[in-house]
Amino acid sequence: MCGIVGYVGTKDCCDVLVNALSKLEYRGYDSAGIAVFENGEIETVKTQGKLDDLRNKLDTVGKPQGHIGIGHTRWATHGEPSDVNSHPHSGARVTIVHNGIIENYIELKEYLTNKGRTFISETDTEVVAQLLDYKYNGDPIKTIDDCMADLKGSFALGIMFKDFPDRIFAVRRESPLIVGVAEGECFIASDVPAILKYTRDYYLLEHNEIATLTADGTSFVNEYLEPITKELKTADWDMEAAEKGGYPHFMIKEINEQPTAIKTTITPRIKNGLPCLEECGITTEKLKKFKSVTIVACGTAMHAGMVGKYVIEDLARIPVNVDIASEFRYRNPIVSEGDLVIIISQSGETADSLAALRLAKQKGATTLAIVNAKGSSIAREADMLIYTLAGPEIAVASTKAYITQLSVMYLFAFELALAKETVSSAECKRLVSALLKIPDAVQYVIDNCEEKCKFIATKLINADSLLYIGRGLDYALSMEGSLKLKEVSYIHSESYAAGELKHGTISLIDDGMPVIAVATQTDIIPKTISNIVEVKSRGAKVILVCTDACARELKEGIADYVVEIPHSDELLMPITAVVPLQILAYYTAVDRGNNPDMPKNLAKSVTVE
Ligand code: AGP
Repeated sequence: MCGIVGYVGTKDCCDVLVNALSKLEYRGYDSAGIAVFENGEIETVKTQGKLDDLRNKLDTVGKPQGHIGIGHTRWATHGEPSDVNSHPHSGARVTIVHNGIIENYIELKEYLTNKGRTFISETDTEVVAQLLDYKYNGDPIKTIDDCMADLKGSFALGIMFKDFPDRIFAVRRESPLIVGVAEGECFIASDVPAILKYTRDYYLLEHNEIATLTADGTSFVNEYLEPITKELKTADWDMEAAEKGGYPHFMIKEINEQPTAIKTTITPRIKNGLPCLEECGITTEKLKKFKSVTIVACGTAMHAGMVGKYVIEDLARIPVNVDIASEFRYRNPIVSEGDLVIIISQSGETADSLAALRLAKQKGATTLAIVNAKGSSIAREADMLIYTLAGPEIAVASTKAYITQLSVMYLFAFELALAKETVSSAECKRLVSALLKIPDAVQYVIDNCEEKCKFIATKLINADSLLYIGRGLDYALSMEGSLKLKEVSYIHSESYAAGELKHGTISLIDDGMPVIAVATQTDIIPKTISNIVEVKSRGAKVILVCTDACARELKEGIADYVVEIPHSDELLMPITAVVPLQILAYYTAVDRGNNPDMPKNLAKSVTVE
């Protein structure tokens, strides 16, 4: 969703805001703007388009000169991307930036209109600016508090009051916000990478807390307006982790970071050759009691859950449901005490996943979060927590977060199976040892398959539509391959269980239609091959991702292109097999002239429903 930033200090505020926004552009990139105190007045510059368009506008109209201000990069929710709908938004004495959604903005707009207020944009944010201005009583904190009582929905706000040119204010409910601090300066930001150039020290603003930022420091009050002291946190990411580091895009950089990300995620969770998740609050006693598992997530994270279902059911022999969070939360799902609900999320702030977590808790289930972003809402609210240690993932298309989510799903499945006594300790050790070899296999695929995938991508760029097919774990994986391709290349694609094609979808196949088949599971490879033959004989161009062992057995002409990946334990194959699918999606997007880091209509962190 949107990214918000704010600065109070001695530096050129405009430069700091634009730099900070450049680290948040992944959250939204259809318009951008800043507001800076210049000689006691609030000067606002904003525009439709990317941050570069804002830079150009600032060069043309002149940068506001000052040391205190707020900034915004937008992912439109209310009103099309346009100059007038861009943030910041203002009332006469108040200027704000906002991330989130005000659910009752229509009622509030009507109320304010009846009080004689007029509006120039279609946004819910302008309603908040006008409400603050309408309620302003000379005391910013009391005014903010008063307004919050009227607001329904989610918000993180950066606020400037014209009467207080030495400070900015920040408040949040649901939408994330941090307050960074350094010597003589402080910051607000939607996410840590925005401030890493200036400081690694920050406070996490909690729901309904209000922060005041001045050059002398920050102060906080809780929802009862009582002053509070907060725990200072230090980011363990450095600047380099949030930069492209010589790669043309974050997506390909993050694909290349996957071997390290897996190693970092699994190594500390293995003791004496066995999985050990005790420090995440997961014990054998707890695991023994669960009678079912439900995995709830969105998008790529949900696909990691699909792989998890196959693996947990296979090893631990307990039923696993996988649900899309936006469905789960409105479906009166059957979970209760004794059930485990796993929420998977890179950002830890996805609105639907967070709501699903709260619903599961309300129904008495035990919850486990698998999250990448430290200190995020889902991480804090779940009963048990396993962090994926992927580091900051900036590209909108998730790659290294997915692969670490898979790695955690495996460790969890091993541990659960041990607790349920469905695998022996010796078998578990064998699986763990195979998992420890996976980072090398992933590195091998990156080193040896990139050129081939790059070449195959040139054959996909003119396709109107593609199919991904596979069986079992390969089907679960092909869902992710298909999503990756469509989100960055804008080519329509679907994933299908290979055996299901003949029940309808095969009628789509015609001359030259690309079909990407994944075949890594020895016992079902012959079945998948039959399905490949079926589509090939109807004109499909087949790209087959399979193990080297499978490739050796292939008859001439079955596939048009074959991407061979090294064979590992079959259960673990999805971790290796996803890599060529990611690379294929990346190069298809690049060849079509798309920026894979900022796909149209998408944002990294979906904090609205
Ligand atoms: C992945 O490439 C997508 N950007 C998207 O599907 C994402 O996985 C989904 O929105 C869930 O996000 P989360 O992991 O932060 O909850």
